[in-house]
This record gives sequence, C-alpha cells and structure tokens, in this order.
Amino acid sequence: MKKHLIFFFLLATLIACKDHTPSTHTKTHGLITQQAMVVSAREEASQIGSDILKKGGNAFDALAATELALAVAFPYAGNIGGGGFMVYRLNSGEIGALDYREKAPLAASKNMYLDENGNVVPNKSTLGALAVGVPGSIAGIFETHQRFGTLPLEDIVQPAIDLAKRGVVVTEKQEQRIKKYQPLFREVNKDSIIFDEIWKTGDTIYYSALASTLERIKINGPSEFYEGETAKKLVDFINENGGSFTMEDLKKYKPVWRKPIVFKYDSLKIISMSPPSSGGVCLAQIMKMIEPYDIHEYGHNSKKTIQVIVEAERRAFADRSYYLGDPDFVDIPLDKITDSLYLQNRMDTFTFTKPTPSTDISHGSIEFSESNETTHFSIIDSFGNAVSVTTTINGAYGSKLYCSELGFFLNNEMDDFSSKPGEPNMFGLVGAEANNIAPEKRMLSSMTPTIVEKNGMLYMVLGTRGGSTIITSVLQTILNVHEFGMSMQDAVDAPRFHHQWLPDVVQFEEKKFSNTFKREIEDLGYQVTDYDNPSLGNMVGILVLKNGHLEGGADKRGDDTAVGF
Ligand code: DON
Repeated sequence: MKKHLIFFFLLATLIACKDHTPSTHTKTHGLITQQAMVVSAREEASQIGSDILKKGGNAFDALAATELALAVAFPYAGNIGGGGFMVYRLNSGEIGALDYREKAPLAASKNMYLDENGNVVPNKSTLGALAVGVPGSIAGIFETHQRFGTLPLEDIVQPAIDLAKRGVVVTEKQEQRIKKYQPLFREVNKDSIIFDEIWKTGDTIYYSALASTLERIKINGPSEFYEGETAKKLVDFINENGGSFTMEDLKKYKPVWRKPIVFKYDSLKIISMSPPSSGGVCLAQIMKMIEPYDIHEYGHNSKKTIQVIVEAERRAFADRSYYLGDPDFVDIPLDKITDSLYLQNRMDTFTFTKPTPSTDISHGSIEFSESNETTHFSIIDSFGNAVSVTTTINGAYGSKLYCSELGFFLNNEMDDFSSKPGEPNMFGLVGAEANNIAPEKRMLSSMTPTIVEKNGMLYMVLGTRGGSTIITSVLQTILNVHEFGMSMQDAVDAPRFHHQWLPDVVQFEEKKFSNTFKREIEDLGYQVTDYDNPSLGNMVGILVLKNGHLEGGADKRGDDTAVGF
C-alpha cells in the first residue's frame, strides 16, 4: 500500500477501535429482551414496572409504579419519605430532568448541627427527626406522571398497594441488613417497629400501614401527602420525636424541572443530572479531563488507567466541594467549570511519575463574581422512551426513624448539607458555603441518573446508589462499555475503585484487587485502602445493542433484577 494509504488505514482502524472496542474477554450477558426493560433493586419492583409497560404504559407510567413498588419492597432505600432525581430522553430525542430532592424545613438554620463551641454534634444530622428533610418523592412521581404518563394513576398505584398487602419475602441480603441496623432502630424509635422483629430469609413482611397510606394517596393524589391526613400525621410524628416540621413545610414543597448536564465524550453524548446534584457536573469534569488520554490502550483497571481517573476525580471533587450547591440559592459557574480548556488546564500538574497530593489541589480558579441508602432504576419502554431515576433516603433506612402509623422510614438527607465548612459528612465529603444549610434549600447530592447516546441514538441508561461513589461508579461503568468493550452485565459487575479528593486515598473495592496490585499503586506514592462497605454502589444499567435489543445489567452486589419482554 502507498504510504498515505497505510496512514489512512491505520487512522481509520484507530477510530474504529475507539468506538467499537473489541472485547478481550468472554462476555457474560445480562437479561436480553426485544422491546422493553426495567432494572431495579428488587425483582418485585422490576416486575411491576415491566407489567405496566406490557399493559401499554410508557416509561413514565412504569417509573411511577416501580418507584412506589420499591418503597414497599426495598425499605432500605426505596421510599416515599425521601427524594430523588429523574433524567429522561423521549423517543423524539427530547431530554429533560426532574428534581424532587428533599428541602431543608423552614425551621432549619446554618448552625443547627453545631454545639455552643461551634463543633458538629455527632449523629445529629444523621439519626432521628432532626436529620429529616422535607420529602419530595410523592410530588416527583405525580409530577412526572402528570406531564408524561398515559395510564390512569389508579392503575399505577394499585400494584404497590397489592404488593404491600400480599407481603414481600425477605432475601438473604435483606436479613443481614435488618440485623445490622436493629440497634439503631431501637435507639431512634420510641416504640418498637416492625423491623425490630427477627426476620429470616424466606419470611414474608406485610406492610399494611403503608398499603393504607398508598390507598389514600391513590384516592386523593399528592395533596394527601402534602396537605391531607397523611401530612398531618407526618408533621405530628416528626415533632413528637424532637424535629421541627410544619404543615407549611409540606404544602410549600414543589419539584423542579431542570435542564440536564449534557456533554460529549468521543462519539457519546452523556445526559446527566444537574445541580442540586453534583453528579452530572463531576461526571462531565472527570470525563473531559480523561478524554485526551488513551485509557483503552492503557487497559481496564491498569495502573495507568487508575492513575488518570484518580487524578481527574481528585480535581473534580475539589471543585464540587467549593462551587456546588442548590442552584436556587447559589450561583454556580457551570459553563466555566465544565469548559474543556479549563479542565485540561486542571490536569496540567498531572504526571504518571507521582500523585498530586490533595493538599496541593483546591478548587480551580476562574473569573467568577459571586452574588452572594439510595436506589436506582432504569427503564426503556417499547416506544423508545428512557428514564433514569435515582431515589434515596440517604443512609441505610434513612434517619432510622420509622413512622409505624404511616408505614415508612424518614430520610436523613440533611446530612448531605455541609454542617460546617471543611467538616466531612457521612460519606467523608467536605463542603463549603455553597452547600450550607438554609430554610427551603436543597442539599447537594452525588446522585447521577444518566442516559448515554451514541451517534445520536439511545445507547445506555444507568445509575447506582453509593453516596459519593455514585459518580465514580457511573463513570467506570460507561467506560467499561465504551472503552473496554464489555457487556452491560460485565460492566456493572467489574471491580471498582474510588477517589474523592478528601480523604486523599484511593479506595479499592474489597477483595476485588490483588494485594500485589494495590502495593504497586502504593509504590507510585498513593495511599490505598479497601472500601469497607460490601460494595461500591449497586449499578443498574440498560444497554441498547446493535440489533436494537436491550441488555440489562443488574448488579450482583445486591438483589437487583432486570425484567422485560
Ligand atoms: O444524594 C446523595 O448523594 C446521597 N444522599 C446518596 C446516598 C446513597 O447513595 C446511599 N447509598 N449507599
């Protein structure tokens, strides 16, 4: 071949490799279906969502049904006592996002978790009634349905009511989780609650109080939760337990339609959640910082790949801490901190020879005038609409405060605020003024419900639980498919690592990386630790295959299941 022809051939091969990376290992596939799919943390919820799709409902109908079913089947994180974010892409290509994040109650104040010496009072923002933010889930579910739903709401709420009455079988993982948190349930709740009992794998838990609450919501709509009998009971309950909620707090709660964060990475267009979540911004920052490096060439979870990703994560989380908060309260210089040139400059100090210590990294400087336990589910319907939803009550079983009369746990989302600048929250995240507490403000989140297009077509719908690790898990899963040619199931199951600026440590998923490998990373100058949770998140994803079929990725770390047809 002539020299220039050889050059073009090599170039074309390189481009092809980048976009259609051949897999180097045998693929394990998740469930593959032809038309529609729901992947969530519990089979019961995925089944209910899938049944709605089969009945002719669209992704938004299925969203409502799945989210309510998770509130029943997955009390660890599924909820009506918390909040969440939804990113959607219609079959027309139209995209959008709904923010139904909790808000600080009107009685909240900047220093509410500090003692008279200005120190953070342990557990005050994480346990019991004072940790609770005004829930947004019911408002979010109904808002979504009102705008995009097609089936009558009764048809959508009823399956969750039936499930609550029929009961849900305890899984092995659930048995362990309930046992682990029982001492805290007893510490927080005045009276005994259903979860104080000894629950064994295979037992059935009946949720009759929750069934009644959902029945009233079915009849009266969201105003039942925000103004009706349920609202009144909820306010009384929180105040009897030492919190400070009013009927006005609930009445004033409104979800907000937001413009998602959209950016390019190679041939992909990534659509993710905007503030008050940090998810989309951090994902955009990290991906733009790593884009100039050939991580496909370096290899999956190789030392060089981990170095590049860790250094980008370090810089992104430093910006998160300084710039991000509720956009209705603080000005966020979104365009500037997601600008490619700014981000490439942020990586100027990176070298493969040694780490950049986090003490040498602060937020990037820009010209800026200041005015002054989670669960994810992904759905694609047979019409080609996609929704990506992450919802949470924050910690495992939220504040551990359980309203037996209404049948649900209350969130401890207030801990996602920065109680004191520089003081870490339960995920070790530090914040600054942008994320301080104020009445009616939304606390900064890491939730990253994401949709990916490839060459203009729907490609992936994904997200996870996992606090600060959500962002880095979503990142690695996208890269696993795009750069390393994995199936959705393999991408979800692959070992993960995490860095979040502070603490300055690379966290490796327990038992998934060899000691020799971790020593090699240490030899490069990095501090290394095992992530002591059972896992870094529970990824949930759907991949649109070349023939248009759908592949589900349901994380084996949890009870996650894909159901579809
Ligand atoms: O919004 C956030 O970032 C946290 N409240 C998410 C909590 C979470 O993922 C818990 N699951 N492990």
